[in-house]
Amino acid sequence: MVKIAPSILAADFSRLGEEIRAAENVGADMIHLDIMDGHFVPNLSYGSVVAKISKRITGLPHDAHLMVSEPENHFETFARLGVEYIAFHIEIGGIRKNWERGWVYTAEKIADERRMLDLIADIRKSRAHPGLAVNPPTEVELSFPLLEEVDLLLLMSVNPGFAGQEFIPTVYDKLRKAAKYRKDNQLRFEIMVDGGVGLGNADKLIDAGADILVAGSSFFGATDYGEFVRTIKS
Ligand code: DX5
Ligand code: ZN
Repeated sequence: MVKIAPSILAADFSRLGEEIRAAENVGADMIHLDIMDGHFVPNLSYGSVVAKISKRITGLPHDAHLMVSEPENHFETFARLGVEYIAFHIEIGGIRKNWERGWVYTAEKIADERRMLDLIADIRKSRAHPGLAVNPPTEVELSFPLLEEVDLLLLMSVNPGFAGQEFIPTVYDKLRKAAKYRKDNQLRFEIMVDGGVGLGNADKLIDAGADILVAGSSFFGATDYGEFVRTIKS
């Protein structure tokens, strides 16, 4: 069954504790934490303090989506707090370009494979599951040589930086390719889709191979969180 990971970025921060409790009570599976450094993406979000709060409120697993240029500086803080999944972007060290409605980092080749492998190994050593995130303009095939090493592939379906953006449908093709690669190579990583996900595209994403759907605005903007979860899971 597909898992739902509400993205705290779209929660009402004046009632953060209640929002996290509500997500747990209605059957969400994970809590998605968007960590932004104002450099890899054009926005700053929150640091580890939200992970610290959320970890005290719910026993649900957490994933930290590190949209930062230097994941080496940040992953340990989250691992120490017990965040179960920590994903960084394959585009670190890549190129910044204008694409769709703004700028985004992309990569045509892996800038520094040794760096990626070290990061993955260090995240695992810190007892978290390593994950790799891929931006919309980056070919998913770029991640293939690294997928044996990770437990999570995070496919972005918006340019990262903000909640509430319009879904970019090129992710369907990437999902199918990643799911096929996983099957052909008998790998076990989970596939997460992040950005603009909601009731209108969830079924099609699940059919294409998504295991975890991140839902920010669609979840926290729903009048009934429980109904949102039930509709997607049924
Ligand atoms: C975007 C973040 C997403 C975002 C999702 O940079 O990585 O996790 O919060 O929000 P929605 O679901 O509103 O697109
Ligand atoms: Zn995210």
